[in-house]
Amino acid sequence: MTQFSTRVGVVGTGYVGLVSGACFADLGFPVICLDVVPEKVESINQAQPPIFENGLEELLQKVVIEEQLLKATLDREEMFTKSDLIFVCLPTPSSEDGSIDLGYIRSEIKEIGMLLGKTSEWKTIVVKSTVVPGTTSGVVKTILEESSGKQTGIDFGLAMNPEFLMEGVAINNFSNPDRIVIGAVTDKSFNHVKALYESFDCEIQKTTTSGAEMIKYAANSFLATKVSFINEIANICEMLGVDVGEVALGIGLDDRISPRFLRAGVGFGGSCFPKDVKALYAVSKQVSRPSNLLKATLDTNEMQPLRVIDLLETLISVQGKTIGLMGLAFKPDTDDMREAPSIVIANNLLQKGAKVKGYDPIAKETARSAIPGITHCNSVADLLQEVDAAILVTEWSEFRELKPQDFERMNNKIIIDGRRVLDWVTLQDSGYSVKVLGQAVP
Ligand code: UDX
Repeated sequence: MTQFSTRVGVVGTGYVGLVSGACFADLGFPVICLDVVPEKVESINQAQPPIFENGLEELLQKVVIEEQLLKATLDREEMFTKSDLIFVCLPTPSSEDGSIDLGYIRSEIKEIGMLLGKTSEWKTIVVKSTVVPGTTSGVVKTILEESSGKQTGIDFGLAMNPEFLMEGVAINNFSNPDRIVIGAVTDKSFNHVKALYESFDCEIQKTTTSGAEMIKYAANSFLATKVSFINEIANICEMLGVDVGEVALGIGLDDRISPRFLRAGVGFGGSCFPKDVKALYAVSKQVSRPSNLLKATLDTNEMQPLRVIDLLETLISVQGKTIGLMGLAFKPDTDDMREAPSIVIANNLLQKGAKVKGYDPIAKETARSAIPGITHCNSVADLLQEVDAAILVTEWSEFRELKPQDFERMNNKIIIDGRRVLDWVTLQDSGYSVKVLGQAVP
């Protein structure tokens, strides 16, 4: 097989680009990351990650400072010249109507195409951003050919290599994947990308670029649907005197179902599930196969955060009361507030005339800018001080360890557990009124 040069270029240093770049460097490949924000480039080159991700600072210290395998730059030409594979890891946000916004991708691909037009060296462009099926073989290929004057597959390689990284555990996910998916326009493009993954012992699936794009969307949409499914089962269980935790355990023991992503709660958030399900739903309508299931997943998730307010209102009227939100980030081990359920809960409480306090161990600045209308606290004790009720929104480990006496400082002893992680039996035995999402309504 042709021996490829495998210097890696990464465009975009968000949690996908920077984690992927750092992990490729950790495998021994030289990596150069391109970003347009000078502060980000500067902090990466000082091994200071511009994003919160477990283990990333230590990894950057190794690959940037000790081994000098990874550097960041503002100079696109430098990145291009020093790379043989160029991974595009740019945001693909939702448009107003839920469809994908390819703005960042289009403009970057045009710039890369112009550089391709000026070189005779073989380069493979690899889309790693989550893009709807048909994007790589459609708009990406067209823009590359138009701006380079060259032919895909003949003068340069083109592939799509989706990521399956969960925030908070992204480095581990990269290094221990269940599978590698590579969609490519030619065998040469496929083999070039595959050369980076030779040391992995998992399945490497070869498919088309549209196949790889669809695998990514179908994976995220299935996982999101699994979450909305267990949330609906939880809502039914509350009315039937059944604890959804027992149901999740019982069905999860079936290896066709698996226990994962069956934790009922206030709904899914983050930069991926909501955006990806909306984008795939938009595609389903565009191809005249509107997906009722994806629409239901989104509709259920839109209402789910409000379920904790319904539970609270069975105990008190929130008008004029002070409510404390325990946890604000969309999930633990990240400061990411994108589509966080806490935003919906806080705004709904404010609309109902409540005063709202919030605390998150990690999401500070991100939480303040995402939910400006609440009082932001710096500790659980500060949060619980004189509140009329507390709602657990994000299941940070520090909340799981709380004892009844930690809640003594509250005005009323009312606790709503939106993630089903508190020791509600001990709290109830200590005189607290505790409502747990998805638990039988006593
Ligand atoms: C997800 C996918 O898991 C990952 O493969 C993809 O690459 C990016 O999107 P991420 O968004 O980081 O990763 O978080 P994840 O851990 O998957 O959780 C997504 C949301 O679902 C979170 O809001 C989480 O609270 C919620 N969730 C997850 C549940 O409510 N219940 C569960 O059982 C699991």
